[in-house]
Amino acid sequence: MGRNIFDLSDRVAIVTGSASGFGRCISIGFARYGANVVCADINTEGLRETIKRVKKKGQKGLAIRCDVTRQEDVDNLVACTMEKFGTIDILVNSVDSYTHAPPSEFSIKDWMIPINTDLKGTFMCCQAVGRVMEKNKKGSIINMTSIIGLIGTGRGNSAFAACKGGINGLTRDLAIEWAPYGIRVNAIAPCQFRTEGFNRAIEEHSKVIDRETLLKRMISNIPLGRIGEPEEIVGTAVYLASDASSMVTGHILHLDGGYLAR
Ligand SMILES: NC(=O)c1ccc[n+]([C@@H]2O[C@H](COP(=O)([O-])OP(=O)(O)OC[C@H]3O[C@@H](n4cnc5c(N)ncnc54)[C@H](O)[C@@H]3O)[C@@H](O)[C@H]2O)c1
Repeated sequence: MGRNIFDLSDRVAIVTGSASGFGRCISIGFARYGANVVCADINTEGLRETIKRVKKKGQKGLAIRCDVTRQEDVDNLVACTMEKFGTIDILVNSVDSYTHAPPSEFSIKDWMIPINTDLKGTFMCCQAVGRVMEKNKKGSIINMTSIIGLIGTGRGNSAFAACKGGINGLTRDLAIEWAPYGIRVNAIAPCQFRTEGFNRAIEEHSKVIDRETLLKRMISNIPLGRIGEPEEIVGTAVYLASDASSMVTGHILHLDGGYLAR
């Protein structure tokens, strides 16, 4: 039988934002496909739970408290990973920092939060890990973006849209910069998925619009007719991390139940 092109055995992955939501699911999913996983987040309690589940899959796990916006934390994340595993093959940037308000009411401080956290943190992690991958002449980087980086939706999303549009541009640019080094850089653009972050956003929005009406409106835009479950990201993430996507780089993969196909 041929080699399993989705196999991640002996690969070392760093996943940021892995104390909950997509980051946690991706960490556990990577472990199921054989990777050792370094989980980074500001939520240490959540990290402990993710690492417990990574180890249950029979893989090595390492939890690092890391605020991706702090240079010393990012440098420490890379240093600790190198000390324990000696290499980095995969990076997933999955930190969430959603803010929303009508454009005329957005305080600039709140508007800057996704830019200063998600966009800046994604670049800082790419830069620090990219230095290792450049030396290795290989690697796969996956950035979490959103359908809202590709289309306008209204609903107070100007900051999130600008941040995710920035992540799409960053992904494409780094893909070109690092192609000569064999480093692939891609992004996943989900529609709405039932993560902890999504539940918080729904709570926020339901202060101004009835929750059921809001959910119905969201679902009506998704041809598959439902909100996604967080575990449904695993196949896409394993595909982009593994040799199965060896010729794919600079791609924004829509994980959206057909949202953008309409
Ligand atoms: N859930 C969705 O419907 C959806 C849709 C589109 C895009 N996304 C994107 O997917 C990614 C993950 O979102 P999620 O829904 O899993 O969110 P989540 O809130 O469930 O998880 C995000 C994690 O990021 C961590 N985090 C926040 N700030 C941090 C920082 N400065 N440093 C380190 N960690 C930090 C949080 O502690 C949390 O554990 C985000 O980029 C989000 O924008 C989510």
